[in-house]
Amino acid sequence: MAVFLCVDMGVKIWYKTCTMDNSLKVQFSLNQEWIAEKDAVVFGMFEGEEIPCGLGFKKETAEKEAERLFPIFSKIKKHFAYNDFSGKFGQITVMYPEDILYKRIILCGLGKKEDMTEEKIRQIAAQAIAAVEMTDAKKVSFTLFGAPTQRADMRLRCIFEGVALAMYKFDAYKKGKDGDAEKKKIGAVEFLIPEIIEKAEVDAWQKQLERYVVMAEAVYFARNIVNQPSSIVTPQFLADTAEALAKQYPGVSVRVMKKAELKDRGMNGILAVGSGSQHEPVLITLEYAPASASDKTVALVGKGVCFDSGGLSLKSAENMMEMKMDMAGAAAVMGAVFTAARLNLPVKVTAVIPAVENVPGHTAYKPGDIITSASGKTIEVLNTDAEGRIILADALHYAASELKPTYLIDLATLTYACELALGNHYAGLLGTSDELLELIMEASERTGEKVWSFPFDDCYKKQIESEVADVKNIGGKTAGVITSSLFLKEFIGGHKAYAHIDIAGTAILPEKQGYKNKGGSGFGVRLLVDFLEHLGETPAAAKSE
Ligand code: BES
Ligand code: ZN
Ligand code: ZN
Repeated sequence: MAVFLCVDMGVKIWYKTCTMDNSLKVQFSLNQEWIAEKDAVVFGMFEGEEIPCGLGFKKETAEKEAERLFPIFSKIKKHFAYNDFSGKFGQITVMYPEDILYKRIILCGLGKKEDMTEEKIRQIAAQAIAAVEMTDAKKVSFTLFGAPTQRADMRLRCIFEGVALAMYKFDAYKKGKDGDAEKKKIGAVEFLIPEIIEKAEVDAWQKQLERYVVMAEAVYFARNIVNQPSSIVTPQFLADTAEALAKQYPGVSVRVMKKAELKDRGMNGILAVGSGSQHEPVLITLEYAPASASDKTVALVGKGVCFDSGGLSLKSAENMMEMKMDMAGAAAVMGAVFTAARLNLPVKVTAVIPAVENVPGHTAYKPGDIITSASGKTIEVLNTDAEGRIILADALHYAASELKPTYLIDLATLTYACELALGNHYAGLLGTSDELLELIMEASERTGEKVWSFPFDDCYKKQIESEVADVKNIGGKTAGVITSSLFLKEFIGGHKAYAHIDIAGTAILPEKQGYKNKGGSGFGVRLLVDFLEHLGETPAAAKSE
């Protein structure tokens, strides 16, 4: 795809649009050759067990190669004997055994076998790769560690995710890059597959691995867009990116509605919030329609506030600092739609992205304004910082009434209240359908992108009643997550399967959480892709009834 260099603030390194493929600069491969010289090999050890799990030699190999293999395991045992390592979860040791096949051995403590989870595999894989990054190793070999109850292909997936996502770095603007760090970069990661696995199965795993790479690239894509400053990521940048990528992937089409069309359609919420900025607002719709699709369709609405200063209800300097991230919902839904296309998922999915910049100015919207939204409902603006719900009102109305999807989901960095309630580990989840909530929670369980349910109860509705309009845009001091979502519910036209995911706390992290880096986390991409992959399956709760 053609990319154009962009000069901004004198920094000449970014593009007019954001690319999606080849963002992982590491070669990932499968290998069944255990008896060979290796730069660094990662072993997983359960607490108290002195032999690593996930080993994959045939008996004959073990016997034939005993002389070369035995020293490795006796050295590992020594670590236990010296009490340097016990296999406790999170323990990492780098060994430099001499005169054996493997130059470096990285021992990872997996904890107790019965406590092992997929998420723990991701976390430990991330810790292992961080330890390897401190060394000069250029190629790393991962054994497929995990509990016996965890299938080998699932272990492969989790280790890959932990490693690939932990290796993300946003350092494009760091001019004084450390030369040594540059030299030390890991260029290749291989996964050591048990010898007994048949060639056909390994080929199938190879295809799967390629799909995992595509998913990781989508997370990188979302992280990059969130981490880029708002001087680059404007509403038009999001539109250009959507258009450029749509040309690249078959089955995807884009429509960008500009100011004139927004006016014609009465999308006064989007227009009002965007009115203070020189960067005009747009509504982007991005549709992936496969040749053969399931009868279920999905609309994904993503909050795209490219910068949220609060508008005339200006935020404090401290609260404004991170607000280039207020389009993380847009980044996630874009990533999910392009991934659906790249993976050829058999489901029609449309992203709807209201993209604006919320800044003060003589043309900006003001507290006290009353807006007639696209649905016809009127909104009393009491705080211009509660802008997300106003643009989403128009976008949700459009998605529900024009696209009529089976499932309607929005992702939004909507309220600070959500971060206060759940911190940076869980996103807030509310919705109108138990079945949809169940599907989302199952995807959450599988991906480690955690969500927590709030009551979606109309008893809180009184808090957003206005004396002069149909609804007001603030809901008082308490229950901010719920009142903001009840506001959104006003605009879905009674849709029976709607869910809102508040990602204010999870979209950007104040510090590294294992494989989730500091800054833009790409939260939601894997959750949504997994949800789309499993569409059509009956939720477990319904199955057991
Ligand atoms: N974008 C913010 C929410 C936010 C805050 C996201 C912190 C991530 C981290 C949103 O537009 C906002 O400002 N919400 C206000 C609403 C209030 C004025 C009713 C909030 O949560 O304080
Ligand atoms: Zn705001
Ligand atoms: Zn906002």
